[in-house]
Amino acid sequence: MKISIASDHAGFEQKQELRDYLKNAGHEVVDRGPDSDDRVDYPDFAALVAHDVADGAADYGVLVCGTGIGMAVAANKIHGIRAVNCITPQFAELAREHNNANVVTLSGRFVELQENKRILDAFLSTDFGGGRHEGRVAKIMALEN
Ligand code: RB5
Repeated sequence: MKISIASDHAGFEQKQELRDYLKNAGHEVVDRGPDSDDRVDYPDFAALVAHDVADGAADYGVLVCGTGIGMAVAANKIHGIRAVNCITPQFAELAREHNNANVVTLSGRFVELQENKRILDAFLSTDFGGGRHEGRVAKIMALEN
């Protein structure tokens, strides 16, 4: 799968680890930065990844900040994006199955690296359930208009 990943300073360390984890798992990974843990503004990086996904340059996006919250709020401003802040693998599974999420946002400060790896595994290995969820997701997307 093609995955676009970025962070802010608070998520930088885990972003580096998760980027390599995804590469080693055989994914094509585009690292949208930053290149150091110097202080940056998370909306700038959320926008880069969200546009990659919205434009079809990436299948999924991964964003890491302190909580994952700011990244989700910012990424969801881009049309076509359904970004979810996941703190457990089950949340990630349900976000894919029920909400057809296309960006996952992670906490670099409150969730351990190993748990974030499990969250990514769940997110990337779960298909959208369709069926009764189809119309609900369509209603979400209609809110953009
Ligand atoms: C940065 O201090 C922090 O606000 C950011 O990483 C993130 O948690 C925002 O939601």
